Amino acid sequence: MTELTLRRPDDWHLHLRDGEMLKGVIADSSRHFARAIIMPNLVPPVVTTEDAAAYRERIVAALPAADRFQPLMTLYLTEHTDPDDVEKGKQSGLITAVKLYPAGATTNSHSGVRDMEKAMPVLERMAKIGLPLCVHGEVTSPEVDIFDREAVFIETVLDPLRRRLPELRITMEHVTTQDGIDYIKSSKANLAGSITTHHLIINRNAILVGGIRPHYYCLPVAKRESHRVALRAAAISGDPRFFLGTDSAPHVDPLKECACGCAGIYSSLNTLSCLAHVFEEEGALDKFEAFTSLNGPAWYGLPANEETITLVRRAEPIEFPPKRMTGAGSVTVFDPMFPLHWDVVS
Ligand code: NCD
Ligand code: ZN
Repeated sequence: MTELTLRRPDDWHLHLRDGEMLKGVIADSSRHFARAIIMPNLVPPVVTTEDAAAYRERIVAALPAADRFQPLMTLYLTEHTDPDDVEKGKQSGLITAVKLYPAGATTNSHSGVRDMEKAMPVLERMAKIGLPLCVHGEVTSPEVDIFDREAVFIETVLDPLRRRLPELRITMEHVTTQDGIDYIKSSKANLAGSITTHHLIINRNAILVGGIRPHYYCLPVAKRESHRVALRAAAISGDPRFFLGTDSAPHVDPLKECACGCAGIYSSLNTLSCLAHVFEEEGALDKFEAFTSLNGPAWYGLPANEETITLVRRAEPIEFPPKRMTGAGSVTVFDPMFPLHWDVVS
């Protein structure tokens, strides 16, 4: 197959940041994607519907005029989030989901939730009104090994929450382990998972072998090879519970290339070329559209996009810029470490 036309994809987990960074990166998403769930971990975070409305306006103002990209806004769950405000956000159509960051789990998550009990009134309201919860599924206890944090989160936080509030719809974002995949598959309802481009491509060796490679460091951190294989199997299975969330998370190079580098991989620019490569390698191009364009909208109760996108397989590898230059500084683009042949042409 050398040409592929599919419904326009959506990105169900994206960091656009703000200010000069937002202006510098947004076109890499809006060029190819119709919609994206926008992460609220700004400084300060997007906590209220008023914050989200203002952030949405800044995003729309930064969009290239020709792009009809729709930002789907989220609220950052804190221990003080007001259930009435969340309900207002959902009813007005502004808010698509609420995001749970366990405090300290990742970039800008210190205002997140320490004590789940305190978040229960909001979660109960969300269950009642059918507003999904997006979770960063990692515990933060210092005694838990970083490679085990997802599995321990499932056992100690996610499963108890689902037993207590089975009606709450939960997206386990950026699943990185076989444990996560198995847990989602074992559920009967109200649970789905997004998978990033990079976790389908790298395992933890990419970060650590032959020197420390900060541009492959993200959270949740890439795991061992058997987990990557499990993620691929889920992504290409067509199972409607799995869909794309790139977790493209730009940081300027000096903040990545230092003694304590930030977590985050920037992949918006070449994500669809990388993914087409993965699906082709797996002999699963027939499942590509389900993963990028159908399963996500179905889960979020939205129609699939009417517009299409076409990719062409070039005989020669296509060159992507290694860095995205922004007014905030340069951002290194995800390097999949194999040549890319699939080109998005329209
Ligand atoms: C994200 C960021 O930089 O905001 N980083 C990352 O490694 N994915 C936060 C997150 O989604 O965990
Ligand atoms: Zn993220």
